[in-house]
Amino acid sequence: MTSIHLLIPAAGSGRRMGSDRNKVLLDLMGLPIIAWTLKAAAQSEAVVWMGLVGQAGDRAALEAIVNRLSLPQPVAFIEGGSTRQASVYNGLLGLPPGATRVLIHDGARCLATPDLFNRCAAALAKQSGLVAAIPVKDTIKLVDANLTVEATPDRQRLWAAQTPQGFDIGLLKQCHQQGLDQGWSVTDDAALFEQCGLPVQIVPGEETNLKVTTPMDLAIAEFILKQRLGQP
Ligand code: CTP
Ligand code: MG
Repeated sequence: MTSIHLLIPAAGSGRRMGSDRNKVLLDLMGLPIIAWTLKAAAQSEAVVWMGLVGQAGDRAALEAIVNRLSLPQPVAFIEGGSTRQASVYNGLLGLPPGATRVLIHDGARCLATPDLFNRCAAALAKQSGLVAAIPVKDTIKLVDANLTVEATPDRQRLWAAQTPQGFDIGLLKQCHQQGLDQGWSVTDDAALFEQCGLPVQIVPGEETNLKVTTPMDLAIAEFILKQRLGQP
């Protein structure tokens, strides 16, 4: 199995969650959200090292969570930036020398399974850019500033991007640098790769691999976890 370094961006504030602290620290079935993410990633045999990207103010809380889990892989703390893009860039600079392939997985996607990490790691042995994604279920409308519909893209060709996303580290660093130079603002790393003209391959994601963004997502995550754990 390919050896993979994993970066976990967890340096947000969780504004849309409406809570008084970073959402990844909120409780989900007795553990902080980020603990579920770390546990699932650590169960993937492909992952040899993890970089947890967080704000300085959350460092103590995040490190306490990591210590309590006593995972087999080393987990390094890396200070995040003011946007996800900046946080991932810091993460890339914090990778140990010699690392060649990286998976990037949002701390807020706490239901991703070890199998998904393994499948992404395996695919990354053959591809230099990939994104976990699932087919879109809704019909999507492209609208203008006045909310007038401009177009209805063919749903057959629409996939909802998730994380993990995986890349050749040298290439992704170059794309982040170019994004900085040109002022590109993106919400995922695959977008930087695409803007640089590099190919990004889809890896089938998981319907349950939701990003905990709003309180409703947290309720759904609890429902899914209860089912997985066989709890009423
Ligand atoms: N993230 C990060 N650094 C930032 C912003 C976000 O590492 N400056 C991380 C979040 O912690 C999260 C992931 O990127 O794990 C996806 O971002 P999102 O779901 O938008 O989380 P938040 O930015 O925390 O939430 P919100 O946008 O509602 O404030
Ligand atoms: Mg955000």
